[in-house]
Amino acid sequence: MKFFIDTANLDQIREAHKLGVLDGVTTNPSLMAKEHIRGEEACNRHYVEICRMVGGDVSAEVIATDFEGMIREGEALAALDPHIVVKLPCTADGIRAVRWFADRGVRTNCTLVFSVGQALLAAKAGATYVSPFVGRLDDISEDGVGLVAHIVRVYRTYGFKTQVLAASIRHTHHIIQCLDAGADVVTCPLQAILGLLKHPLTESGLAQFLADHARVNQE
Ligand code: G3P
Repeated sequence: MKFFIDTANLDQIREAHKLGVLDGVTTNPSLMAKEHIRGEEACNRHYVEICRMVGGDVSAEVIATDFEGMIREGEALAALDPHIVVKLPCTADGIRAVRWFADRGVRTNCTLVFSVGQALLAAKAGATYVSPFVGRLDDISEDGVGLVAHIVRVYRTYGFKTQVLAASIRHTHHIIQCLDAGADVVTCPLQAILGLLKHPLTESGLAQFLADHARVNQE
């Protein structure tokens, strides 16, 4: 199981990386915009900095929506660093681009996936990762975790190698639910990762240990 952080914020990536459990990073154009990174050169520098910091897979998304543009942008992104995974939207041109890159050994993440049918096409095209968006389905009263479980079932039945990367994770419980559903990767905001650490019995237990230690050592 792999554990990614879903952000373009360098401080948050650094903080998660310091825990020693981070396998990679996913970004998207909205997350890059949130960091006020403007222009192709600045974006490229940012991706390279993330790659150097983490040393794991870093998804970098194309902006083009046409096949030729996706190939041009994807090739430039993949040339930045061996850790870059080219992120492509699950559209007809995106699926064609996934196939094009797969045929040339370039790893891809097929994103904005909201159905098993889309995930099937991503796998058939040879995507390295497929990204079902859990939280956004929950937002419209659909079952995001259920979709992850369904994709995992279909992929296992037919032996697809594409890894299921649960995205749009909104809270800590989503992480556990996606693991239960068999996701290969979960990409999460920092707060959801830190939430995994929290348990009141850990906090009260530690406070008790420290109080007992201090009492005896003061005697
Ligand atoms: O990486 C894309 C995905 O995680 C987006 O999440 O919270 O904007 O739905 P969210």
